[in-house]
Amino acid sequence: MFYSAEQIAARVAELGAQIARDYAGQPVVLVCVLKGSFVFTADLCRAIDGNVRIEFLGVQSYGEGTETSGQVQITQDLTRPIEGEHVLLVEDIVDTGLTIAHLLDLFRTRKPASLKVCALLHKPSRTRIEVPIDYLGFTIEDKFVVGYGLDFAQRYRNLPFIGIVEHA
Ligand code: IMP
Repeated sequence: MFYSAEQIAARVAELGAQIARDYAGQPVVLVCVLKGSFVFTADLCRAIDGNVRIEFLGVQSYGEGTETSGQVQITQDLTRPIEGEHVLLVEDIVDTGLTIAHLLDLFRTRKPASLKVCALLHKPSRTRIEVPIDYLGFTIEDKFVVGYGLDFAQRYRNLPFIGIVEHA
């Protein structure tokens, strides 16, 4: 499995256009879920021709390995309240679903006007909790992928493409 920088850019452009159409000029807060989605969010926000604000949320659910610890820890919170705002969570990958499920629960308590999820990648074979993904880049098989913001033990985030780690 391999997605080139060109393939990713084409899909991100489509997602951005779809998001711009759906929100139709209403202000939207893009919440970049760190660290993995910093590259995706940077490209996605520029693909949305609309009224966009960016927030960053630090989340840690992994150790140094490739398996989720099952525990989601907020390491850095938003800088402003989201009550009454249209919020779009931007995730690099939905794997077990535990992270997004946790974030949706947390964010609902803050009473946004709407709350949606945009994920670049989804591994449905690994699902432990079903979560709604309103905007999805690619569905992938059960392989550990890196690049375009995704890491293995903090490495490879800077690769411009998405590929598989052979010896993870
Ligand atoms: P979940 O809570 O199991 O859905 O995992 C979500 C998080 O795990 C993502 O935001 C990534 O940081 C990380 N993750 C899951 N699968 C991969 C992968 O294949 N490569 C890199 N990171 C991954």
